[in-house]
Amino acid sequence: MDWLVFGVQWLHVLLGIFWFGSTLYLDFVLIPALMTLPLGEQRRAGAAIGARAVPIFTGVAVAVIVLGILRGTVFGQIKSLDALGTQYGVTWLVALVAAVATAYWGLRILTPAVKKLYTIPESEAGAAGGQGPGIAAVVADIRRKGQIELLGFFVIFTCMILMRFGL
Ligand code: HEM
Repeated sequence: MDWLVFGVQWLHVLLGIFWFGSTLYLDFVLIPALMTLPLGEQRRAGAAIGARAVPIFTGVAVAVIVLGILRGTVFGQIKSLDALGTQYGVTWLVALVAAVATAYWGLRILTPAVKKLYTIPESEAGAAGGQGPGIAAVVADIRRKGQIELLGFFVIFTCMILMRFGL
């Protein structure tokens, strides 16, 4: 066994499940749970989580992509531009483009949408402890953008499984 390939794959998979798994946890557990709290508490928790999550997710996403590039090229089958024309090469390219787009989407499109939740002025948030139309629109926007991000992850994940089978 080539221990260098083993190490690259080990780190790639670990960080990949960290990135994808954290997103699933955020979308299906943490954010829906936060939404049940009063607006003031949502804002405090959201600001604290965002301040910690954004730099960590940025580093993890970059590392997953760099390791994925290395795993496919230096430590993998893609040794020439011609190899990008094979089924495996196309799948790898799709994963690369989807991962860059997903990382960009998460950091530049979704994160500002989430930030709105805890920066929107109380007057715009709506009455009834923040359950008004202002907040409803922000939450709907986050949900839609979160679903698009998940779509990106499902494309990447499918590519990973396909490559495992040489496709
Ligand atoms: C959310 C992002 C990602 C996750 C969760 C992820 C996860 C995984 C997993 C679990 C494997 C092991 C598959 C297996 O052996 O059964 C794998 C392998 C691999 N990944 Fe990723 N990955 C991600 C992103 C990427 C990206 C962006 C690239 C390249 C551009 C990439 C390239 C590869 C390659 C080349 C392999 C080896 C495939 C083979 O068996 O030949 N990955 N990845």
